[in-house]
Amino acid sequence: MHAIEFRNVDFAYSEEGQRDFRIRQLNFTVEEGEFVAVLGHNGSGKSTLARLTNGILIPDGGEIRVFDTLLTEKHLFDVRKDVGVVFQNPDNQTVASIVEDDVAFGAENVALPREEIGRRIDFALHAVGMEEYRHATVARLSGGQKQRIAIAGVLALKPRVMILDESTAMLDPRGRREIIDVVLRLNKEEKITVVLITHFMEEALLADRAVVMNRGEIVMEGTPAEIFERHEELLTYNLTLPRIGTICKRLREGGMSVTDTLDIASLADEIASNLKGGNAS
Ligand SMILES: Nc1ncnc2c1ncn2[C@@H]1O[C@H](COP(=O)(O)OP(=O)(O)OP(=O)(O)O)[C@@H](O)[C@H]1O
Ligand SMILES: [Mg+2]
Repeated sequence: MHAIEFRNVDFAYSEEGQRDFRIRQLNFTVEEGEFVAVLGHNGSGKSTLARLTNGILIPDGGEIRVFDTLLTEKHLFDVRKDVGVVFQNPDNQTVASIVEDDVAFGAENVALPREEIGRRIDFALHAVGMEEYRHATVARLSGGQKQRIAIAGVLALKPRVMILDESTAMLDPRGRREIIDVVLRLNKEEKITVVLITHFMEEALLADRAVVMNRGEIVMEGTPAEIFERHEELLTYNLTLPRIGTICKRLREGGMSVTDTLDIASLADEIASNLKGGNAS
């Protein structure tokens, strides 16, 4: 089943805005259980895609379905229950001063029974590896921990899809790794469909599939490896290769025969065999 399906979607922010940005006849699908990375430079339309998916924005034309439910005013509530969005700034996403209250906030707003809320807090804190912080003060947590709490708050609503809109952008490398580990686990173990919007190419490598956006269009689509092989094209969309891609490219420019790989061990093997070949001749 499709978790998300955009069919011929048109969208513009305003008459005036149409000159520099609009989405025309956009088709985009994400399968249930899939982990899709969305790449694209600033202003390419990634957040617009996220906002359309959970009904914050409504398309001017075409159809958006979430698990076969057509996104209309009437179904807005159902769709939002299925699609959780985590944003960039962890400080804008916390509402209570104590971790468990913060995680419970969304679930309390949909008026779940108290016991059920308790179970969901347990589940969500466990899923993001923050059980021991249940009674901690949110303000004292690190950026990565706060973002994990934001994810837990979304998880407490039991969404079937999670969209992370540059949720790692404000974090240090360690915080980023914490979030990515949590996201991978949610996808693999909880079978939550994931759309990861990111500027970090290394993060996209972990996805099943990646799409590249440019000016409101999806201009590239494939496995992350397929996309990263197309260096020149990526550059035209103002995107750069993940570091290992840059290393392969430089090595080749330097005269070493290495294939494009995203696997560090196989790159190391290729370099080693190049060096051996060099010694022998
Ligand atoms: N509320 C709005 N009203 C008018 N124009 C908007 C609005 N929000 C975004 N835009 C414009 O729409 C275009 C796409 O914006 P969007 O936020 O989807 O890009 P993005 O890919 O998420 O960029 P970034 O990497 O900076 O987050 C941009 O040109 C932006 O200026
Ligand atoms: Mg954005």
